[in-house]
Amino acid sequence: MSDNKVILNYDGNSYEYPIVDSTIGDRGIDISKLRDQTGLITLDLGYKNTGATLSEITYLDGDKGELFYRGYPIEQIAEKSNFTEVMYLLLHGDLPTQDQFNTFNGNIKKYNFVAEEMKKIIDAFPRSAHPMGVLSSLTSALTAFNPKAVNVNSKEEMDLAAELLIAKFAHLAAWTYRKTLGLPLNHGDNNLNYVENFYKMAFRQPNADFEINPVVVGALDKLLILHADHEQNCSTSTVRMVGSAHTGLFASVSAGISALWGPLHGGANQAVIEMLELIEKDGGDVNKWVEKAKDKNDSFRLMGFGHRVYKNFDPRAKIIKKAADDLLSALGIEDKALDIAMQLEKVALEDEYFIERKLYPNVDFYSGIIYRALGIPTEMFTVMFALGRLPGWIAQWKEMRIKGDPIGRPRQVYQGAQQRDYIDMVNR
Ligand code: SDX
Repeated sequence: MSDNKVILNYDGNSYEYPIVDSTIGDRGIDISKLRDQTGLITLDLGYKNTGATLSEITYLDGDKGELFYRGYPIEQIAEKSNFTEVMYLLLHGDLPTQDQFNTFNGNIKKYNFVAEEMKKIIDAFPRSAHPMGVLSSLTSALTAFNPKAVNVNSKEEMDLAAELLIAKFAHLAAWTYRKTLGLPLNHGDNNLNYVENFYKMAFRQPNADFEINPVVVGALDKLLILHADHEQNCSTSTVRMVGSAHTGLFASVSAGISALWGPLHGGANQAVIEMLELIEKDGGDVNKWVEKAKDKNDSFRLMGFGHRVYKNFDPRAKIIKKAADDLLSALGIEDKALDIAMQLEKVALEDEYFIERKLYPNVDFYSGIIYRALGIPTEMFTVMFALGRLPGWIAQWKEMRIKGDPIGRPRQVYQGAQQRDYIDMVNR
């Protein structure tokens, strides 16, 4: 039986801090009285050892390479569920009955449109604008057209805001893509399920009939499921931090989109394909690029490799790799980038530098291969990640608000100038 407290000895005194138990995984030291009792704070750059909240949504074990959504293993969810059901699971805590699913799905269809004025906002962007910047702006702008989703305090109001955002976000994601191509911005089709609807809004050509390819929609649905939540990652922590000020859901998610954009986070899926294309253009010598990734004097990093938590295979990467193989053979596509990715993975996983640092392929390493096979342009990859992560962001935001987490306000260890007097310009 593990201890239920820790003892800190400091300055001749001894302090006890209780251990907060978990269902599975890390237990936490409750240091809420640390500063009052000792005058000390903790320092943990990047919060590598710091729990920010108590959560019941997603659990991942980095050493075992395990990921559970509300207790259900990602392998079973990816194989047996669908994205709409996963959205319900993350938001409401359990798999829906048929009636619960129908109500949830019906509400999303009820809100399956976006105010026409929003098109004027998207029109104002240059076609060259990066879709993630457009998506973040449009998501925040949605607030203006859905005032009910701003000051939400009850669970019912939060659930309404969630269903509004889920329904409208698919339009925003599709529209950011069509904006880059100068294509007309379509509204949704309630005869289709959520993923089919997104796919049609994004890819329907104005001068041709549109056919739903079940292989393509199946691959998309699986990718969105695999991206749906990942506990307290950078963008989710951003959504929670912004939401902790009781900022509305849409604006909080808009901040999360900006965090996800970063190449060290969700932007890595775009960076992976750019890296694979660079290696291919450079002659395909993967050993040369693995050596560059190991060289401390070289800024090159193996994008799609490594993870803050996973020190084993990212279980999502394994599923995506197989889905990429299946999709490319189903569509009869040969993709040199996939060959290079698999060579890179083999060389890196046999290299002491990567083994010692427990660096494995993460969710972003293979996802771009699938997006590319679906005809999705590289700059849209992180938008696809955002569409997948949307239910996770919302579920985590809702949990933070319902549990009443306090406003986030970390402290610092100050190492700046001591107090000093102002010096007039003439005397400097
Ligand atoms: C996502 O948190 C989540 O859950 C995120 C995510 C989600 O679903 O929300 O899973 C999605 O963001 C996945 C990660 C996508 N990012 C990338 O693929 C970018 C490449 N990866 C690295 O930048 C890095 O691995 C991070 C940012 C992912 C993790 O960085 P950490 O945990 O801060 O680790 P670190 O930078 O301290 O690295 C430890 C060591 C260092 O070497 P030493 O100083 O010990 O000698 O490993 C090295 C690093 O230089 N290292 C790499 C490397 N990643 C880490 N070396 C070469 N190539 C890499 N990719």
